Amino acid sequence: MNGPVSIEVLRQHLIDPEICIRCNTCEETCPVDAITHDDSNYVVKAEICNGCMACVPPCPTGAIDNWRTVLRADAYPVDEQFKWDVLPEQTTMAVAAVDETSNVDASDEASGIEVDTVRGSVVPPWSAAKPYVNLYTHKTPTTATVVGNYRLTDASTDSDIHHIVLDFGTMPFPVLEGQSIGILPPGASGDGRAHHARQYSIASPRDGERAGYNNVSLTVKRVSQQHGDTIDGVCSNYLCDLKKGDVVSVIGPFGGTFLMPNHPDSHLLMICTGTGSAPMRAMTEYRRRRRLKGATGKLMLFFGARTKEELPYFGPLTNLPKDFIDTNLAFSRTPGQPKRYVQDAMRERAVDVAQMLKDDNTHIYVCGLKGMEDGVLQALKEIGERHQLDWEVLWARLKREGRLHLETY
Ligand code: A2P
Repeated sequence: MNGPVSIEVLRQHLIDPEICIRCNTCEETCPVDAITHDDSNYVVKAEICNGCMACVPPCPTGAIDNWRTVLRADAYPVDEQFKWDVLPEQTTMAVAAVDETSNVDASDEASGIEVDTVRGSVVPPWSAAKPYVNLYTHKTPTTATVVGNYRLTDASTDSDIHHIVLDFGTMPFPVLEGQSIGILPPGASGDGRAHHARQYSIASPRDGERAGYNNVSLTVKRVSQQHGDTIDGVCSNYLCDLKKGDVVSVIGPFGGTFLMPNHPDSHLLMICTGTGSAPMRAMTEYRRRRRLKGATGKLMLFFGARTKEELPYFGPLTNLPKDFIDTNLAFSRTPGQPKRYVQDAMRERAVDVAQMLKDDNTHIYVCGLKGMEDGVLQALKEIGERHQLDWEVLWARLKREGRLHLETY
């Protein structure tokens, strides 16, 4: 007997392995845990993804925004996606099936689900300059020459953090503070595939590490231990060992939301740990260079590290004028001292933090260890509520207005 056949069509969400820089942002953002990864690729589980789009704006490269119309029964399983080097073409069979089934509209846009689970802004500040993204990709990388590589942390500590300056020569590489670049380390992983790019926040302002030069700086921590086992980070070791004159392969720039406001009376509340200081240094330096040109907004910084010796940029930071930036350091492992985190320092400065929270010109930036995100948001909530601010209302507003930017890893 020939009865009516039910053909279910799916607009399958896929991640482009050629563009993805494996930064984990999508997996962290997905409210339903539909995204996962192996050593090669980030992939989307078709049976779980509800097309809510929460992951799309935070993706720094746009690799996340790929869709294929497929028969639900033929959806690409994750095991297949893990093996891809490129996305499959759209097959005509599935599209033909859509045409035949009048009750299915596979071109429906996102489901329209309100995404409350996103904790920070997915839009830039209103006055941010327009960023360039993806000028150079895995297929079309550019090169930069190492013009400086300095250890930032005291030689007495195990924490080996470097300040690395890369010069693009005559190759255009326009960046804004808060953006990142991808470095393609040479060589291949165990399965013979070329290493994928590693993402690093830029630590220099838009007009160059050295003003007027076509160069950027990065803050890179050598990864030699993970979860107690010794694991040498492929790219961090490559970068930290670079010598002046070496040439590196670069893609990017990336990032269109973690950007600084351009209006001169905007205030920056910056909270970071370790190498999360890179974008804060970029923004601070940009404002320092603009200071005499009428930038009047306040800068308040909370910066956490294990000890003073492990804090990158400790010297230059503590030398900045007090009337330019209000710097608060929090050390967690100073011998003989109680453990202190950035959120503890924020609570100690609650009155001033609250004053910033009450000001519509304040923009908040959080960058560093994943673990700090909860603690910092909790501290902001407590400080706000103690000063007659309805945190839930303020939080939603900060997010909507591009005034709360979180980048943790
Ligand atoms: P801890 O002494 O507990 O490791 P790292 O050196 O690993 O990059 O860390 C930078 C700083 O961030 C350290 O002082 C570390 O303290 C601190 N830290 C660790 N977890 C948190 C957290 N949940 N909130 C805030 N700071 C944290």
